[in-house]
Amino acid sequence: MNLVRIGLAGFGNIGSSVFENLKRNASLIESRSGLNLAITAIAEKDIRRKRRVALPKSLHVPNLEALIQRSDIVIELMGGCGAAAELALGALRAGKPVVTANKAMLAVRGREIFSASALHQTPIFFEASVAGGIPVLRAIRESLMVNRFSHIYGIVNGTCNYILTQMAERGVAFADALKEAQELGYAEPDPTFDIEGFDSAHKATVLATLAYNRCVDFKQVYVEGITRISAEDMRCARQLGYAIKLLAIVRRVDDREVEVRVHPTLIPQHNRLVSIRGVTNAVSIRGHVVGDLEFSGPGAGGNATSSAVIGDLIEAARYHLSRRGCNQPPFNAIIHPDGPRVKKMGDVVSRFYLRLAVEDSPGVLAQISSLLGKAKIGIASVIQTEARAGKTVPLILMTHEARNLSMQNALKKISRLKCVKAKPVTFRVETFEN
Ligand code: HSE
Repeated sequence: MNLVRIGLAGFGNIGSSVFENLKRNASLIESRSGLNLAITAIAEKDIRRKRRVALPKSLHVPNLEALIQRSDIVIELMGGCGAAAELALGALRAGKPVVTANKAMLAVRGREIFSASALHQTPIFFEASVAGGIPVLRAIRESLMVNRFSHIYGIVNGTCNYILTQMAERGVAFADALKEAQELGYAEPDPTFDIEGFDSAHKATVLATLAYNRCVDFKQVYVEGITRISAEDMRCARQLGYAIKLLAIVRRVDDREVEVRVHPTLIPQHNRLVSIRGVTNAVSIRGHVVGDLEFSGPGAGGNATSSAVIGDLIEAARYHLSRRGCNQPPFNAIIHPDGPRVKKMGDVVSRFYLRLAVEDSPGVLAQISSLLGKAKIGIASVIQTEARAGKTVPLILMTHEARNLSMQNALKKISRLKCVKAKPVTFRVETFEN
């Protein structure tokens, strides 16, 4: 009953990744949302191109009208401001919710598109248009609804941030960093759009439009890219205690005025945005009720963008079904009463920091390492400082991964050793690797 028909326009990197992720995760989506989302039509101009995911011929439709007709929801992933905008407008007029990742279209033709959405009482969702996989737009439009936003700062272009990170950390010149980014597939063969700041400016326009729920005119947004930054500027900025980042800046002046601009910006080295390296994106928001928030994560790529597109799709599908009068399960109805087991702490595996106060005499380290060895706990590193005769010395050990129960048992034995003079101190280590 909860089958929702999806029309997908554009089967490039992002489109095919959305297709694949929807298929691969269908049962997870169904168990969480109660929805059965099926792609029933795909429009793609270039059907001959060899691609990683094969385009299913049975779903291919010859034009965008057929796509709208055969679907309940339209996903626009074609890019550009022409046919993409016509598709979005056509779907909204037909009362079919739209999901898009197209920031250029929203920035340049937002006024028409948002007006059509209001007129036809049909929503358009665009989480993937800013900062890829980071759910910052949903946070702004829902979770933070009570806030007035005094500022939003974004590192929203991975290509530029990759180049600037290489220049800052390795002292390489702009042209070399750009070449490297192209070789790694982070920058397009023609990188103008990214390095001249237009991609960030489109995203700044979308952020400002959403934060102020008023259409911001892209033509009024100041745009300056990163091409004039030299390795020397990077060095000088660093000496002064700053880093240079390409920032998308949205600042509230008052109810009627807002600053929206994109340009290279010196920011103090201690600011958290400086730690955003490589292709990672980040958005920093100040709301008058919530205070300061930071979001960071992958801003581009098939999987990260699919994650945002599919999140929107579920919201669009719920909207579609409720308009049809189908009951939607409230969120807590899809939390199953028979939950997963919680792993016993004794079985949890972690690394350990262990600080012992020991006698400084021969064989002490051997006794301790033998007890750890018997418990199958590997030692990753050891520090022992010298002490004056007769005093205890601190012995600090970092272990490899071990079961908590093994560590507990080994600790009991270690604390009983005569050479151990105080209760061992131990903490778990999190390496953030898995
Ligand atoms: N070209 C963009 C970037 C990703 O380099 O971050 C798509 O918005």
